[in-house]
Amino acid sequence: MDKKIRLQKYMAQCGIASRRHSEELIQAGRVKVNGKTVTQMGFRVSEQDRVEVDGKIIKKEEKLVYIMLNKPSGYVSTVSDPEGRKTVLDLIDGVSERIYPVGRLDYDTTGLLILTNDGDFAFENTHPGHEIKKTYIAEVLGKPSDKALEALRNGVVLDGRKTAPAGVEVVDIKSKSTVLKIIIHEGRNRQVRRMCEAVGHPVLKLKRTAVGNLALGDLKPGEWRYLSSKEVKLIRGK
Ligand code: URA
Repeated sequence: MDKKIRLQKYMAQCGIASRRHSEELIQAGRVKVNGKTVTQMGFRVSEQDRVEVDGKIIKKEEKLVYIMLNKPSGYVSTVSDPEGRKTVLDLIDGVSERIYPVGRLDYDTTGLLILTNDGDFAFENTHPGHEIKKTYIAEVLGKPSDKALEALRNGVVLDGRKTAPAGVEVVDIKSKSTVLKIIIHEGRNRQVRRMCEAVGHPVLKLKRTAVGNLALGDLKPGEWRYLSSKEVKLIRGK
């Protein structure tokens, strides 16, 4: 429920003026609540009310926050899930801003997921063509041949369209599987899984280890922390 607070306090929180100066504005008849001029000092409002000062609607400024989460397997990376599965927001306590994930990781994919309330940032970072690199560690079934690795690097056709060039390196060879480091610049649905499947090597495990130049580091699965503004810049590779 939205808490009601005194009008002058609300105005101060919106960055209009100090409480004292806000009281003067109210007394001067320059403030309207839901279309009606309010001059009464004890008047209380909530964020649901439409408050105008000199005819201009005012809003509480939300602090922009950026969070990195090491997403565990078994969580959807949406704000809510129609099937009632756990969402990544269930892992984040004590953040009052309305954050949401930037892009998606599949239910079974682990690793670096960014959450923010900065709509411009989220848009820029998920917009096709903006080319932010994402680094994944993928354990695939079997041992891809050089030809298969080249095909992954040059692009494979998914939904009738070739994927953009990718960075692919072999990190480890196990008895029945191979660990690959894959860097892509696109964000097509289940892209890494579908690319590997297209060359005959289904993904057994998938983890995102970096977005742009921001690496996951040593956060444990389920842990999260705020990003500094310097780290936010690393995402865009600056
Ligand atoms: N590619 C995938 O296939 N799955 C993810 O979660 C992310 C990239």
